[in-house]
Amino acid sequence: MKRVLINECKAVFPALSRNESLSRSMAAAFALQCDPTVEETAAVKTAVSEAVTNAIVHGYRDSEGFVEMNMKLYDNGLLYIQIKDKGRGIDDIKAAMEPMFTTAPAAEERSGLGFTVMQSFMDKVKVRSSAGRGTTVTLEKRIGGKPLDKR
Ligand SMILES: Nc1ncnc2c1ncn2[C@@H]1O[C@H](COP(=O)(O)OP(=O)(O)O)[C@@H](O)[C@H]1O
Ligand SMILES: [Mg+2]
Repeated sequence: MKRVLINECKAVFPALSRNESLSRSMAAAFALQCDPTVEETAAVKTAVSEAVTNAIVHGYRDSEGFVEMNMKLYDNGLLYIQIKDKGRGIDDIKAAMEPMFTTAPAAEERSGLGFTVMQSFMDKVKVRSSAGRGTTVTLEKRIGGKPLDKR
């Protein structure tokens, strides 16, 4: 059966670290519609936070720009959140997604575990990127047990 789009929301904000917590709260507020458990809300917030932080600290490391967040909710409880930047891009996505891989300078003390965290908290994580043009991370998670009505 074809899934039906119930609701969607788009946000665009400048790549400032203060917007990490803003994006986390927006994702939690959007996810609230599918009646999530405390664990599911925490999972969504954590994964979104990692993706948005990456856009800000890696994508726009040497430049300024905007982060775009696209959220969609389907009738089967599928929550879909896309985080998009137009920053430097990722040369080797497979390597970047390995645990402990980081290109951040040692002084920044990044763990290299952001993608691993996203994968462990969400059902699906997809990354599209091209060097010099930007990165799009798509996070998916089925939330709540009940089908949703379009109201
Ligand atoms: N939006 C992005 N733009 C450019 N590079 C990115 C982006 N997201 C991730 N990367 C690259 O992938 C690496 C791994 O990311 P992650 O697993 O979150 O670890 P960390 O952020 O601790 O380095 C980063 O060090 C960076 O090289
Ligand atoms: Mg990271």
